[in-house]
Amino acid sequence: MKVTVVGAGAVGASCAEYIAMKNFASEVVLLDIKEGYAEGKAMDLMQTASLNGFDTKITGTTGDYSKTANSDITVITSGIPRKPGMTREELIGINAGIVKSVASSLLEHSPNTTMIVVSNPMDTMTYLVHKTTDLPKNRIIGMGGALDSARFKYRLAEALDAPISDIDGMVIGGHSDKGMVPLISHAARNSVKVSEFLSDDRMKQVVEDTKVGGATLTKLLGTSAWYAPGAAVSSLVQAIACDQKKMFPCSAYLEGEYNLNDICIGVPVLLGKNGIEKIVEIELSDAEKAKMQESAEGVSKTNTLLQV
Ligand SMILES: NC(=O)c1ccc[n+]([C@@H]2O[C@H](COP(=O)([O-])OP(=O)(O)OC[C@H]3O[C@@H](n4cnc5c(N)ncnc54)[C@H](O)[C@@H]3O)[C@@H](O)[C@H]2O)c1
Repeated sequence: MKVTVVGAGAVGASCAEYIAMKNFASEVVLLDIKEGYAEGKAMDLMQTASLNGFDTKITGTTGDYSKTANSDITVITSGIPRKPGMTREELIGINAGIVKSVASSLLEHSPNTTMIVVSNPMDTMTYLVHKTTDLPKNRIIGMGGALDSARFKYRLAEALDAPISDIDGMVIGGHSDKGMVPLISHAARNSVKVSEFLSDDRMKQVVEDTKVGGATLTKLLGTSAWYAPGAAVSSLVQAIACDQKKMFPCSAYLEGEYNLNDICIGVPVLLGKNGIEKIVEIELSDAEKAKMQESAEGVSKTNTLLQV
């Protein structure tokens, strides 16, 4: 199992670290354009191997795609992150060019790969990969919902004063402050709906805190977060590498599902060795359906800025 992570910055390195710590991949290649950066991150991470007890071999390269050849899974984290006060959509100008050329270079050496797109605005970058490559739609996966759901569970556990392992919840829709649709009506503590424990006002607060989860951290850190994003990517990589058939909300290309067409947006999917093995259509309330529709309009509007 060979995994390539393009972009050895905050998210890429964190992702490589969690993949190695989970010890399911034989090899992780980090690639960056900054001279020596990926090699340095890879060496530093390898020096944690004896301490953290993993056997995954991590190597780094400055722009040499031949080193990524025959990667089973490729992850794109290259591009600029947002600064405080910025929206993810504002990154499109620079990141679209980077993502398009990185995807094409990766495919030259790994034509049968499964590609995970992380760079923002993620749903539009996933759509861009769909439109500019020949990869089948099940092999193009956008990571956003897995992170947003982890943040939702964090906020629910906080509101309920409960351990996170008791909490179940999912965020679908676009990976943006306005576009996220946290499914509060489905959220539960050990099968008991959270509405049994929380007032309407508290639930609204949880939803709002979840939607600005990334922006809150960007304000605190001065750049976007990396631990939870890296962990979320590593969970998707593991589900595919180990054929787990696990369900995550991921940005997937839709052709009629959820009444949406020609768009990549967050919906529940099953991940296994073939990438997206199934798009799961769940029952949504009328309010959730309306929010999903509004979210899709936002993503489509950003997609129109692409020159494909
Ligand atoms: N989808 C999500 O949930 C999510 C979460 C967090 C961050 N992000 C996004 O991920 C991206 C990376 O964030 P970060 O915090 O790691 O940024 P970062 O600046 O720390 O790292 C980005 C890296 O990409 C490299 N890079 C730029 N152009 C490249 C190219 N053409 N080829 C190879 N490498 C290239 C840079 O040299 C840099 O090291 C951003 O777009 C950010 O918005 C997405």
